[in-house]
Amino acid sequence: MFPTSGPTHGFFAHRCVWVNGPVIVGAGPSGLAVGAGLKRQGVPFVILERANCIASLWQNRTYDRLKLHLPKQFCQLPDFPFPEEFPEYPTKYQFISYLASYAKHFDINPHFNEIVQSAKYDETFGLWRVKTISTSSSDIPSEVEYICKWLVVATGENAEKVLPEFEGLQDFGGHVMHACDYKSGESFHGKRVLVVGCGNSGMEVSLDLCNHNASPSMVVRSSVHVLPREVLGRSTFELAVTMMKWLPLWMVDKVLLLLSRLILGNVEKYGLKRPCLGPLQLKDTQGKTPVLDIGALEKIRSGKIKVVPGIKRFSSGKVELVNSEILEIDSVILATGYRSNVPSWLKENEFFTEDGIPKNPFPNGWKGNAGLYAVGFTRRGLSGASLDAMSVALDIAKIWKEETKQKKKTVAARHRRCISHF
Ligand SMILES: Cc1cc2nc3c(=O)[nH]c(=O)nc-3n(C[C@H](O)[C@H](O)[C@H](O)COP(=O)(O)OP(=O)(O)OC[C@H]3O[C@@H](n4cnc5c(N)ncnc54)[C@H](O)[C@@H]3O)c2cc1C
Ligand SMILES: NC(=O)c1ccc[n+]([C@@H]2O[C@H](COP(=O)([O-])OP(=O)(O)OC[C@H]3O[C@@H](n4cnc5c(N)ncnc54)[C@H](OP(=O)(O)O)[C@@H]3O)[C@@H](O)[C@H]2O)c1
Repeated sequence: MFPTSGPTHGFFAHRCVWVNGPVIVGAGPSGLAVGAGLKRQGVPFVILERANCIASLWQNRTYDRLKLHLPKQFCQLPDFPFPEEFPEYPTKYQFISYLASYAKHFDINPHFNEIVQSAKYDETFGLWRVKTISTSSSDIPSEVEYICKWLVVATGENAEKVLPEFEGLQDFGGHVMHACDYKSGESFHGKRVLVVGCGNSGMEVSLDLCNHNASPSMVVRSSVHVLPREVLGRSTFELAVTMMKWLPLWMVDKVLLLLSRLILGNVEKYGLKRPCLGPLQLKDTQGKTPVLDIGALEKIRSGKIKVVPGIKRFSSGKVELVNSEILEIDSVILATGYRSNVPSWLKENEFFTEDGIPKNPFPNGWKGNAGLYAVGFTRRGLSGASLDAMSVALDIAKIWKEETKQKKKTVAARHRRCISHF
């Protein structure tokens, strides 16, 4: 990597850096896994990360009680198993320590506090221009432009929180937060809390609130698939993966729904209407993740978590629901999900949709044109990210090695020509 130009212009200090390998945007599990694959192949790279640490989603934007929902063998990154002493479902702290060991083991050192503002392919030179604002070294932010042949997008499906607009929320007056800022129910003791959303976050935040003697009401505006995390001591996910080897998706869905009915009973009578499409088909077509129940259902059955329909409007200390019921509440937690931020910085419209997800579905969404790659957008969590990362690292390494060999041959030929002139 060579800095090619110096100090300031205008308000920002400005630098231009040539990278002899790919630039990877994002130091979450996906970016780290690509970095590890490239290290193993001897390919140099730069990872740019907006936060001041690796895996910032896990370190800064998740609640304390979070555990991996899938058994550990489905969550480990390539070439580095989880420690044996880790439980079947590692805690978020164990996962973070695993990722730190991963980065250390493969000697991966991202550039922290560098926010990628834009990335554009320069057709004339056949290179990517990646512009960042760096806030690390001083109070004055500096602009850096990285120039490279390959760009790996690893900014995640959950890069930004989704904050829907609600009528009257500005007049509510109570505490409103997104689930990404929720840590624990400790400060909600005795409070009436409206949890908006019933995905895995909404369910688990509601459960945590109950465990801290708060009174959550959970908004279910449409439908949701709730599945048991385990069936007869075996992970439901693992069971689904095994069945998918032999059966079509719709049939696996039928079996999962039958097992869920046997284990969980009829959840619709508690207000948890099931979608028309089965859980795996829904995930495949719309990216909507089923909820794996880890205790919230029991609290719903016992009435400790109240299930309520969609929101009509907020007013001072109150929410009115679509069934005209009015609830008095102290706080609102928006467990309304996340979105990709790729469209805000990647100047490209062939490979990614306007929602910032590759247009080609899994397993073909990792490679675009002109040296563009994507990792971690498969809607298959960490296992999908690992598969992408291996494909991307191998592909780049193959081209990089070929080109490096070619360059060496050209330099050697030039050298021979120079010598022959003397
Ligand atoms: C609460 C929660 C729990 C989850 N639990 C599980 C689970 O148990 N199992 C599972 O498989 N999946 C789980 N997921 C999904 C999870 O997001 C992924 O599995 C995993 O974090 C994806 O890794 P990633 O590297 O692709 O994305 P991320 O972990 O989101 O990492 C992306 C990185 O890119 C950085 N970045 C973003 N934009 C920029 C920019 N413009 N410039 C520079 N850097 C940028 C971010 O700061 C971040 O560090 C969970 C998600 C959430 C929200
Ligand atoms: N331990 C774990 O493994 C774990 C824990 C938490 C999260 N996660 C993962 O993290 C990702 C994000 O999960 P998430 O639960 O945060 O988000 P999510 O799955 O996208 O769920 C968002 C929820 O918010 C609701 N919603 C959105 N806008 C709304 C509005 N205006 N009014 C009412 N409801 C609204 C949605 O309802 P509709 O369905 O009607 O749109 C949905 O129920 C998922 O992949 C999930 O599996 C994993």
